[in-house]
Amino acid sequence: MSKLMRWVDARFPASKLVQDHLTQYYAPRNFNFFYFFGSLALLVLLNQILTGIWLTMNFTPSAEEAFASVEYIMRDVEYGWILRYLHSTGASAFFIVVYLHMFRGLLYGSYQKPRELVWIFGMLIYLALMAEAFMGYLLPWGQMSYWGAQVIISLFGAIPVIGGDLTQWIRGDYLVSGITLNRFFALHVIALPIVILGLVVLHILALHEVGSNNPDGVDIKKFKDEHGKPLDGIAFHPYYTVKDLVGVVVFLFVFSAVVFFYPEMGGYFLEKPNFEQANAFKTPEHIAPVWYFTPFYAILRAIPDKLMGVIAMGSAIAILFVLPWLDRSPVKSMRYKGWLSRIALAAFCVAFVILGYLGVQAPTPTGTVVSRICAVVYFAYFLTMPFYTRLEKTRPVPERVTG
Ligand code: HEM
Repeated sequence: MSKLMRWVDARFPASKLVQDHLTQYYAPRNFNFFYFFGSLALLVLLNQILTGIWLTMNFTPSAEEAFASVEYIMRDVEYGWILRYLHSTGASAFFIVVYLHMFRGLLYGSYQKPRELVWIFGMLIYLALMAEAFMGYLLPWGQMSYWGAQVIISLFGAIPVIGGDLTQWIRGDYLVSGITLNRFFALHVIALPIVILGLVVLHILALHEVGSNNPDGVDIKKFKDEHGKPLDGIAFHPYYTVKDLVGVVVFLFVFSAVVFFYPEMGGYFLEKPNFEQANAFKTPEHIAPVWYFTPFYAILRAIPDKLMGVIAMGSAIAILFVLPWLDRSPVKSMRYKGWLSRIALAAFCVAFVILGYLGVQAPTPTGTVVSRICAVVYFAYFLTMPFYTRLEKTRPVPERVTG
């Protein structure tokens, strides 16, 4: 075996890669619950790719046959039902995991210097993931697939001058049709997965260049032993591979429970109108995107002018990219930030969840007012950050990690 490894290593840096990224990659020893979600995101990505490949084997990307081919997968293809539920539940699980992963970043200031690029690559992954989920949702060609795509694509029509042509260019037709389905299929199964995989590699390379942050937000590279190993660091393998395995097992328990017992999750993971085939002549009573898009959808709906709504929705995502430059705090972790930062983050999270809830519901006058208030809180969190992070009194940060 070692002879074979020497042969490979003379031609390809296999051992070096394992050392640099696993056995000799020193991660802070105080990782907590929130540090499970990076490896869980990798697991869900793998699930989506594998189940996606097998679904593709029996799916037909045409307006005439797509809906029926999904029913065929569910009823006739051996284990087709489990492949589909793993994939559809995986989509929601992906966003749950990624939202918790991003929340960890906000909580411990993981986006701050020197991890700005880790955050930016993460945000690009998030954008690609939203595009991937949106295009995947059109494929089963149900009523909500069709009308959801119709609503979202028509938003581009609000752009002055080029709007009309742009929407037509995206659809490839005058209305959402089999042509749109076909191109979304190509993008969903090949183009975007390649982009996401590439970005994940860049995300992890950037992280391993600077090293992981931790719940104390202190730099573990400051104190090293005589071999140059950080005193507060432990080798990623075997320590965190084994610890992450515990996270994987707990995740799989919950995930399997959903896949086997609640795959529709009361209409939140698979929406009810999507059990009816797409019909261009019949608009569903209430069109709402899947839950993971609804905070942004609620911001869009809160503003009466279509163009302004689209700008607000786009800005709500874009502003996350510049977060590393909005936070002026001398400390990273929320453990040592002041009360203003804590209240701001709590208010932001509450506003995000309320927006998500309102985005699923049919619009009401009260809902619109509440959405507007929450949209203001959402943006205020970011826009006032340069001020409250500089003004507030922080607590003393320990030299070494605690706990
Ligand atoms: C497919 C999606 C993603 C995958 C597979 C992924 C994977 C990972 C992994 C394996 C780590 C190291 C382990 C950990 O710290 O949990 C990590 C760290 C990190 N990720 Fe992601 N990530 C994804 C999406 C995102 C997104 C959307 C963001 C934010 C916009 C993000 C921001 C970060 C940050 C800031 C770190 C460093 C955290 C720290 O050191 O405290 N990631 N990611």
